[in-house]
Amino acid sequence: MVKHMAQAAGRESWSTQAGFLLAAIGSAIGLGNIWRFPGVVYENGGGAFILPYLVALLTAGVPFLMFDYALGHRFRGSPPLVLRRIGRWWESLGWVQVAVCFVILTYYAVILAWAASYLFFSVNKTWENNPDGTAAFFVGDYLQVGDPGFTIDGVPGVMFPLIAIWAVVLVILALGVQRGLERANKIFIPMLAVVFLVMVVRALFLPGAIDGLDALFTPNWGALFHAEVWIAAYSQIFFSLSVAFGIMLTYASYLKPRSNLAPTAAVAAFANSSFEILAGLGVFATLGYMAGQEGQTIAQFGEANSIAGVGLSFMTFPQIISTMPGGALFGVLFFFSLLIAGITSLLSLLQVVSAAVQEKFGLSTGRAASAVTAAALVVSVALFGTTNGLNALDVIDHVINNLGIVGAAIATTAFITFKAKRLEELRRHINYVSTLHVGRWWNALVGYIVPAVLTIILVITIKTLATEGYGGYPTGFFAQCTIGTFVFVFLLSFTLPLVKWHTDVDDYTPYPAASQLNVKEYK
Ligand code: ALA
Repeated sequence: MVKHMAQAAGRESWSTQAGFLLAAIGSAIGLGNIWRFPGVVYENGGGAFILPYLVALLTAGVPFLMFDYALGHRFRGSPPLVLRRIGRWWESLGWVQVAVCFVILTYYAVILAWAASYLFFSVNKTWENNPDGTAAFFVGDYLQVGDPGFTIDGVPGVMFPLIAIWAVVLVILALGVQRGLERANKIFIPMLAVVFLVMVVRALFLPGAIDGLDALFTPNWGALFHAEVWIAAYSQIFFSLSVAFGIMLTYASYLKPRSNLAPTAAVAAFANSSFEILAGLGVFATLGYMAGQEGQTIAQFGEANSIAGVGLSFMTFPQIISTMPGGALFGVLFFFSLLIAGITSLLSLLQVVSAAVQEKFGLSTGRAASAVTAAALVVSVALFGTTNGLNALDVIDHVINNLGIVGAAIATTAFITFKAKRLEELRRHINYVSTLHVGRWWNALVGYIVPAVLTIILVITIKTLATEGYGGYPTGFFAQCTIGTFVFVFLLSFTLPLVKWHTDVDDYTPYPAASQLNVKEYK
């Protein structure tokens, strides 16, 4: 007991609030901004998407970011410990968030492995070896994609960079919060900002860039009447800001008691969205150039080529790199940006799982990081490092984002608002430590309005998936991926609460005390 009390008292912390902010921005900016956002905008009404996007950012993104910060900061732990401290039986919900992170990080690392390979391919444009084009190279030569269905056929070209990525993140994670995470973000984020800016400026000066921007910003107002567009906006904000699945909660648990939460949330959200818009500008300027080279409009080019998801970065971009002057350097910069933006996000996903394991089993930072990374390596290689990797990744990414993250957000806010009745305590906590205060509108948004919107979104999504499946995959394969993912999530969340804690769960002192906040004392 004494040892564990000491462990709790010696909880790691960020060296400065700026260090935390940088890490939070590093977590937020990732594949969601570069790989996902431009395609999501394009598919959901172009310029008109900016409206639902901003609504989602202001009604859900920033308020939920503060919610995560307040939970982690007040109850000082990863999701299972925080929820266990609030209610005996609610640890499960914390493990749901941990499991969601684990699922995401196993395929997230694989996309980073692709980016690492493509960084090298860019130098001599390796994809030009395939006369059938860049899509054929990606799917055939590189990923060797087979029919959807589980297989043990590994793809060495993916496995080796994947193992290297796990090795890098393990070293950073094992060094701890200050020496590992904080230092890595201090190096990677400024580097990313410079490299990305150079790339976007270069893209904006390409001939035809303006046509690309025109396509990005020309609004299709009709899109605003489609539920899918609003669903896409909320999903994008949750994934991109890293909210509602434990990341920001865990990161905030390493803040010192006197930390200015509300403005930090606003700055992190603003930085993330600015980067996202910047990525949109860069990508569409480049697409405008490419469409011009082919004598097409962006719409025609978009029909003939993949502008969304996996295809944009790994099929369409290589084609552009081959065509543009100085393409090799542009390719190196693009994939380098994708890689470092993704590594800082991968670290944050891993930290959630590692912190939860560390706290539950009383392990050292290094041991928890090693155990979690080893498990993640095995799962990522077995599931996504094979010839079925792309199919499995596509389906699992879709269901975990649209069902897992949204479901976890609804369940957590409902628990805090209606069962534990501690939403007001969290609001007062934010206001006590912050220079910027939030009014009762925050409770209305986080406790009622957004969860209601998310519930409608969830029901529509479940109905669509149940009737139409996803992406044209065979029903059996789609069902296997979906059921497998959720069996894993629920198995973890129902069994782990049965295991004894090796951390003294009650050994924490909320600062400010309940009496200072004028709320009921729970302990
Ligand atoms: N927030 C991270 C991203 O955008 C997970 O990729």
